[in-house]
Amino acid sequence: MDQTTATQASKPLPAVSDRHVDPHAYPEGIAFLDGQYLPMSQAKISVLDWGFLHSDATYDTVHVWDGRFFRLDLHLDRFFGGLEKLRMAIPFDRDGVAEILHNCVALSGHRAAYVEMLCTRGASPTFSRDPRQAINRFMAFAVPFGSVANAEQLQRGLHVAISDKVRIPPASIDPAIKNYHWLDLVRGLYEAYDRNADSAVILDFNGNVAEGPGFNVFAVKAGRVRTPALGVLPGITRRTVFDLCAELNIPAEAGDLGVTELRSADEVFITSTAGGIMAATRIDGALVAEGKIGPITRTLTDLYWKKHQDPAWSLAVPYAD
Ligand SMILES: Cc1ncc(COP(=O)(O)O)c(C=O)c1O
Repeated sequence: MDQTTATQASKPLPAVSDRHVDPHAYPEGIAFLDGQYLPMSQAKISVLDWGFLHSDATYDTVHVWDGRFFRLDLHLDRFFGGLEKLRMAIPFDRDGVAEILHNCVALSGHRAAYVEMLCTRGASPTFSRDPRQAINRFMAFAVPFGSVANAEQLQRGLHVAISDKVRIPPASIDPAIKNYHWLDLVRGLYEAYDRNADSAVILDFNGNVAEGPGFNVFAVKAGRVRTPALGVLPGITRRTVFDLCAELNIPAEAGDLGVTELRSADEVFITSTAGGIMAATRIDGALVAEGKIGPITRTLTDLYWKKHQDPAWSLAVPYAD
């Protein structure tokens, strides 16, 4: 017997609790799990869930602004597309999921909310290695709206650092399946913090710009807007930028975006449901053009937020009051 085992043998075994008491705090909100609506603090999954153990999950995030969902249909399309590709099944159709999301937001009372729908592979009762034995689990929740950029960063523009991590290639994980494979993004984020930047831009396998932790990247040069075509999540905000550019007659295209092109752009902005359209005014410490939020970024941002009131783009949440 080694020393550790000997000490353990002399100690009485700890008691097994009959339920879990969670010492952590969570934001105010409402979750849907296993047919029940719960406060966020009660929304828990098993440690044996494949979503947790293997990142075997897909999700989507839509936001509510001023009491209205923004482009919910597009988020539902992407979510159901991911489910199909991952061969997951949930006991709700699109209308059923939309109703659950509306209920989570209305019950939370949040007028500005970050609303997530997700499905994990789930767990099998026998801890089988076969994913077909797992019972897929659908969940949803609504918490207060959150942004990639805080108020100061929105006002001055984000300072980003170009990471030396490579975004997981599309041949490995289809980026159209919105997923939690975030280790490259999170490591890029820490690298950015170490270099006094607010966030990271991650490159693709060919050394071109890919995306960042929770956002797509755009460059503006001589009035033309450009964003990477491949190896990135087809963001709904990215798609919205194309729609807004079409309306405003601003030329916009998806294609390779080189690092030199990004550094020498007239304007750089990022897009995410978590914050909308946000300017980036420094890259690796150097100013983007004059280091100010550019006119195209401003025009697109203003129209983006205006569209949140437009019934063609948004849907009212039926709050109780
Ligand atoms: C990796 C990644 N890229 C881009 C985005 C932006 O997508 P959307 O505009 O749909 O929020 C996200 C959003 O979470 C993301 O996780």
